[in-house]
Amino acid sequence: MNENNSCKHIAIIMDGNGRWAKKRGMPRTFGHKKGAENVINITRAMKESGVKYLTLYAFSTENWKRTEDEVMALMNLLREYLDKEFKEIMENDVRLLFIGEKEMLSPDIQEKISELEEKSKNNKSLTLCVALSYGSRQEILSAVKKIARDAINGDIKIDNISMETIEQSLYTKDIPDPDILIRTSGEQRISNYLLWQLAYTELFFTNTLWPDFNKEELTDIIQQFNNRERRYGKN
Ligand code: IPE
Ligand code: IPE
Ligand code: MG
Repeated sequence: MNENNSCKHIAIIMDGNGRWAKKRGMPRTFGHKKGAENVINITRAMKESGVKYLTLYAFSTENWKRTEDEVMALMNLLREYLDKEFKEIMENDVRLLFIGEKEMLSPDIQEKISELEEKSKNNKSLTLCVALSYGSRQEILSAVKKIARDAINGDIKIDNISMETIEQSLYTKDIPDPDILIRTSGEQRISNYLLWQLAYTELFFTNTLWPDFNKEELTDIIQQFNNRERRYGKN
């Protein structure tokens, strides 16, 4: 474990699976398979670096608009991944969390993810938070509705609504804001990811496609982060 690392939480937009496959003349789903395999490598590397929270953008609310075939392939890959990797997750003392519009997922996946959250809830080395059917504007909208309902019911006074009230109404209420955001594949946009939570996060963009992103590059980013002077970051 690296004691000089002041980074607690890394969020990643795992992008570029399709292009990775295309470069090899393979179908997009092959890239997704390779991308899923890389999740476990990077999770292990995070744990070794002493990072306590890792939030991965696995599937966005907008991704439901992809072709039916691609969505189905991604969901099947998720099922396979959760079954296959859960043992490794438990052995590595990793707590699993899922954020997003879970009600959009098929019932068997909803059941599976609550089961894994429950079984891994006492693990302490790393929290792996998977953003699945996740959209940040939708998250903020549902927080606004919840707070409005509480106000109408008299559970909170309008003048008492604070930043904390909002934070506590987001899916991420139990985890600190990210210190680092990494987006792979050369795109430099946020794509509806953690809009509230990224307010003071340090941003890193790399041209590497997600299936090729490795521990060396991760370590290099963490090192650059530790050399940057941060402003207003929440610890
Ligand atoms: C990221 O890779 C994975 C998901 C969004 C599920 P993409 O599928 O977006 O790959 P590119 O961007 O088309 O290369
Ligand atoms: C963002 O990537 C979502 C995930 C990585 C899951 P996309 O490839 O879907 O985003 P856009 O379409 O480039 O904004
Ligand atoms: Mg993409």
